[in-house]
Amino acid sequence: MNPISNMESKGHVVVVGGGGHVGLPLSLVLADVGFQVTAFDTSIPTVEKINSGVIPFTEHGAEELLSEVLRAKSFRATSDPKCLIDANIVIVVIGTPVDEHLSPDPNSVVQAVEALFPFLNNSQLLVLRSTVFPGVSSRVEKVTHEIYPDMEIVYCPERIVEGQALQELRELPQIIGARNENAFNRANDIFKSLSVSTIRTTPEEAELAKLFTNVWRYVKFATANQFWMMSNDLGIDYENVRSAISYEYPRAADLPRAGFAAGPCLFKDTMQLSALVQQNFPLGNSAMMINEGTPGYLVNRLVQKYDLSNMTVGILGMAFKGNVDDTRSSLAFKLKKLLAFKCKEVLMSDPLVNDSRLIPLEDLIARSDLLIIGAPHSEYSNLATHKPVVDIWNITGQGVLI
Ligand SMILES: NC(=O)c1ccc[n+]([C@@H]2O[C@H](COP(=O)([O-])OP(=O)(O)OC[C@H]3O[C@@H](n4cnc5c(N)ncnc54)[C@H](O)[C@@H]3O)[C@@H](O)[C@H]2O)c1
Repeated sequence: MNPISNMESKGHVVVVGGGGHVGLPLSLVLADVGFQVTAFDTSIPTVEKINSGVIPFTEHGAEELLSEVLRAKSFRATSDPKCLIDANIVIVVIGTPVDEHLSPDPNSVVQAVEALFPFLNNSQLLVLRSTVFPGVSSRVEKVTHEIYPDMEIVYCPERIVEGQALQELRELPQIIGARNENAFNRANDIFKSLSVSTIRTTPEEAELAKLFTNVWRYVKFATANQFWMMSNDLGIDYENVRSAISYEYPRAADLPRAGFAAGPCLFKDTMQLSALVQQNFPLGNSAMMINEGTPGYLVNRLVQKYDLSNMTVGILGMAFKGNVDDTRSSLAFKLKKLLAFKCKEVLMSDPLVNDSRLIPLEDLIARSDLLIIGAPHSEYSNLATHKPVVDIWNITGQGVLI
């Protein structure tokens, strides 16, 4: 039981998976707007870190907000499921990765909810927020309503970008997949506290909306990466073409730069959608092959240009994208693996990532013959070196022709 009683707050929210990249920012923001929030997480080290005031990953502004809500006693983390007993609202946002066969596990969220049953009750609102395989919400409803027939259940997907979650949670419209008016109104009250607009859909529409959102981005990145490869093969700098196309031309303003399209969401959500239609998704599958093939293409270009077998190559940035410390599904590690097969030595560095295999930037630059940007962290935009730098994002502003 949290020290501030439910009477003084907007209600007690338990966020299941509340120590994660999505669950923790959401917990903090809800605590900040007046809810009593408990982050329930099965990872004991994560819970200990959070309760000691440390955010386990990079999230802009989160450490300050964490210390505020800890001080105000409107937030705490725990691994004890008994925290659910007096909750008014239960939000489930555990991870939903695909397996080694790129298959989603449609049972993981259902089983996680079933494990909570001894601590739930009919009057609670259950908000599913993980990105799920379509049909999971309905399955959760079925098993939950067998025990708690009156429990309201909604599916409200998370759409923040890591690192900017605190800001985006107060800006992005929230999709609320609800079966009835009452369930919608209760979920709507949560998000209205964040002063954002809401959109009502069915749970099934909301499930697809989330997958389509991520697949749309993934396909756009694949298009850019294929354009980059084509341009390269013609000896043309894709960045010159892209900036010419998008300059004061709104219909192409969203044409992305080249870059590794990776991370814990876009790839696996494209594979979830593909699994939904029994892999009959040529567009998504092609996007996966293009994006996942980007490091291989890069290495092949470098083999044509350099005698890699006599060279030490340094990778700058191992996170899956710029300015975060998250290495989940990072293509920089795939690049490292491919280069290790071709080069004398491969070195890795990243100022944000805590990994004993990485070395400081200065050492890496001093020891390498060739540098490759693996993640476009802002600090790489002004690199102090005369050594060749391969940069497919153009963070260094030297173009992307290899
Ligand atoms: N990371 C993102 O930027 C992002 C953005 C939008 C949506 N999503 C989706 O949100 C979901 C969560 O992603 P994430 O990146 O926060 O994952 P994460 O791995 O960072 O966090 C999940 C947390 O859940 C905890 N957990 C796992 N099983 C649990 C259980 N049964 N009970 C309690 N805690 C449990 C883990 O210890 C972990 O701390 C996924 O479905 C993901 O696709 C992620």
